[in-house]
Amino acid sequence: MKKIDRLLEILESRYREKTKKSLQVYRRAQRVMVQGGSHSLRLFSPYPFIITTAEGSMVYDFDGNAYIDYWQGHYANILGHNPKVLTDEFKRFNPEDGSLHTGFEGENQIKLAELLLGQLGYKDYKIRFTTSGTLATMYAVMLAQAYTGRDGVLKIGGGWHGASPYLLKGVKYHPESGFEQVESAGVPQEILRRIFMTRFNDGDHLEKILWRKGHEIACLIIEPFLGIGGFLGASKEYLDLARALTEKYGIVLIFDEIISGFRFCPSGVQKLYRIEPDLSTFGKLIGGGHAVSAVAGKTKILEKCRPHATSKLRVLFEGGTFSSHAQYMRAGYVMLKSLVNEAPRIYPKIAAAGEKLRRRIEAIFGDRGIEVKCTGDGNDVVAGSSLFMVNFPLKKVRYRSAEDVWNPARSGVRLKEEVLKLALLTEGVHVVHGGGAVSAAHEEKHVEQTIAAYGETAELIKKYLY
Ligand SMILES: Cc1ncc(COP(=O)(O)O)c(C=O)c1O
Repeated sequence: MKKIDRLLEILESRYREKTKKSLQVYRRAQRVMVQGGSHSLRLFSPYPFIITTAEGSMVYDFDGNAYIDYWQGHYANILGHNPKVLTDEFKRFNPEDGSLHTGFEGENQIKLAELLLGQLGYKDYKIRFTTSGTLATMYAVMLAQAYTGRDGVLKIGGGWHGASPYLLKGVKYHPESGFEQVESAGVPQEILRRIFMTRFNDGDHLEKILWRKGHEIACLIIEPFLGIGGFLGASKEYLDLARALTEKYGIVLIFDEIISGFRFCPSGVQKLYRIEPDLSTFGKLIGGGHAVSAVAGKTKILEKCRPHATSKLRVLFEGGTFSSHAQYMRAGYVMLKSLVNEAPRIYPKIAAAGEKLRRRIEAIFGDRGIEVKCTGDGNDVVAGSSLFMVNFPLKKVRYRSAEDVWNPARSGVRLKEEVLKLALLTEGVHVVHGGGAVSAAHEEKHVEQTIAAYGETAELIKKYLY
């Protein structure tokens, strides 16, 4: 048996000991749901703990365990779980506000749209709401295809934009093919052939692929601050080049800001880069804990979904029973308003905590002779960052793209994904991909407890693996 498997066995038995009631509840779930749940990242091995409540930085499970949580609703809860500013608002709701779904137009969505577009601050920009990040990026791609009359999509290796057909390639790293693999059954081959891949922060490759394929490509979709691909900020030169080249080839530049939007400043991270994309997608935190997402962009492109759009190329971005649900819109408005009003307090606080976690975790492992490099850092334009991802470099790696983070020949992926996950859970800390996102509810004491938990984990890794 490999040493890492032996360590995992020990951790698993500690975890099982701690979460016996969760296992019972999970067995019920397995009887009625595929894999016992609805989102694979939540359904980690050997089984997920089942939560009863969540507040601020903490979640609590059926066995009465408390965990400091850095997943925070898939990074949606920048103010922490169930923040008072939102729960108080819901108490004030009355039926006219549309607490439950009405299916009519209301003022809440206008307020959210005005606020969001105001924070972006462009002329001639419009927005349309929908209910998931997946739908927002799917519609953004369709709008780009309708606008350009082309069907090719250029995406970044390691970029996750949700599971829609034109975006289901090159999300996970595969040892044989890197980020060239198809991610799902059920996508027609003709579509897969129209998805082209490029590498994050690699301007040379971008130039080459556009030189060859530029005239076939409708859009470049990119996260300006790469999310699940590695928590890596794009360099300013790279994004400037992407803007210049997409303009040159008549390609729609889509910034997927579903993680980065309002995470680094009270607007898209694009404001810090001072780059105006053609379309932007937002989701996660803009719903204040509800299912809200949006495509914002140049009016001339968004107009492609108008019923009387003159061209035959009209995008049917118009359904959605729950689109702009009044309560969701209100929650989103309250969330964004708090971020705007409290920006000088919130952003430096979460960035300082992120910085402290990244550097202290590196030091804790370094003191034990284990090299760790945390990604999530800001850069020349993004002054600070609340994101952290713990990586175990196997050789000299400069973390610039998802290849550096997810190629198991370069970074200890199992250590990050499996060992850190279980080891930290047994210490009362919940992470995803070895880290996560600090919220405004994480106080100094939580950060210190987290660092201590990583310290225990480093000890264990040293004892069993080094
Ligand atoms: C950058 C990015 N885009 C799109 C999505 C898809 O969003 P959703 O899960 O709301 O469909 C995600 C989800 O994690 C994401 O991180």
